[in-house]
Amino acid sequence: MQQTESLLQVRVQSIRYEAEGILSFELCPTAPLYELPAFTAGSHIDLHLPNGLIRSYSLLNDQEEVHRYVIGVNNDPASRGGSRYMHHSVRPGDILTIGTPRNNFVLDEDVGHTVLIAGGIGITPLYGMIQRLDRLGRSWQLFYASRARKNAAFLAPLHKLAGDHPGRLNLNFDQETGGALLDLPAIIESAPTGTHFYCCGPLPMLDAFETAARHQPPERVHVEYFAAREGADTSGGFTVELAQSGTQLFIPQGKTILDALLEEGYQPLYSCQEGICGTCEVKVLEGEPDHRDLVLSAQQKKNNNCMMICCSGCKGEKLVLDM
Ligand code: FES
Repeated sequence: MQQTESLLQVRVQSIRYEAEGILSFELCPTAPLYELPAFTAGSHIDLHLPNGLIRSYSLLNDQEEVHRYVIGVNNDPASRGGSRYMHHSVRPGDILTIGTPRNNFVLDEDVGHTVLIAGGIGITPLYGMIQRLDRLGRSWQLFYASRARKNAAFLAPLHKLAGDHPGRLNLNFDQETGGALLDLPAIIESAPTGTHFYCCGPLPMLDAFETAARHQPPERVHVEYFAAREGADTSGGFTVELAQSGTQLFIPQGKTILDALLEEGYQPLYSCQEGICGTCEVKVLEGEPDHRDLVLSAQQKKNNNCMMICCSGCKGEKLVLDM
């Protein structure tokens, strides 16, 4: 069984130094005048790297651009191989295979004011959102934290987008402020009523943000994770029925549903294997998943009709999946 995903090939048109440890990659159609599939601010693409890894990266360019996708890649010392490969092996002119854009971090464009909070490389989806808000003439503020000024990407274009609007661009460099963190409760409390909040950054920042925003209506609070909060559910001991063929698969202890499917020779879609990208989502026809992902909202998890098979398990003895 092979699930279908639209894959396409793109050429690495250029690679730019954006900040210490951060490169941007401009990916263009392989044939001149060919247009890439449209995307919206907050989207990401999966890169199917020649070394076999699949990694998700946010698109940071203006969604009006159809001739290119641009991603930013941090050379993470804790890299599991994706960012290291991008930094050390990919060169201009290379052809890469990518999936079409998906969006788990959708920008609500019709609100009075938008507050965006970025930590480090978490700026990438928010930079795309700011270009969109600017094009629409919407009110926005960015709070951007980074270790030091030299590690902060896209400062010059962000300054340009902020123009002379007071308070639009707020920079916080740990090494310049004695390690002080952004005052997230104050940022949220001082925002006008009806503000939508978007946060992308490391886990401690996202945790602090979700705590500070806990009294806000959930539909106004948006987060995008780059890393899992907890491990996958590998407790096993349940059966998965693949509804399209009727096949029954026992998931043993120590394996995820995805692991078991791959071992049996199936080829389900997946990317991050951490519950943060949404690529492995499948429909649940029967049974109750034990959700461990950071993609579905609390309400979507309660609805019980889809799950991420790379990390989520089963609360009962059996799941019937639409695959
Ligand atoms: S592979 Fe990314 S959420 Fe499952």
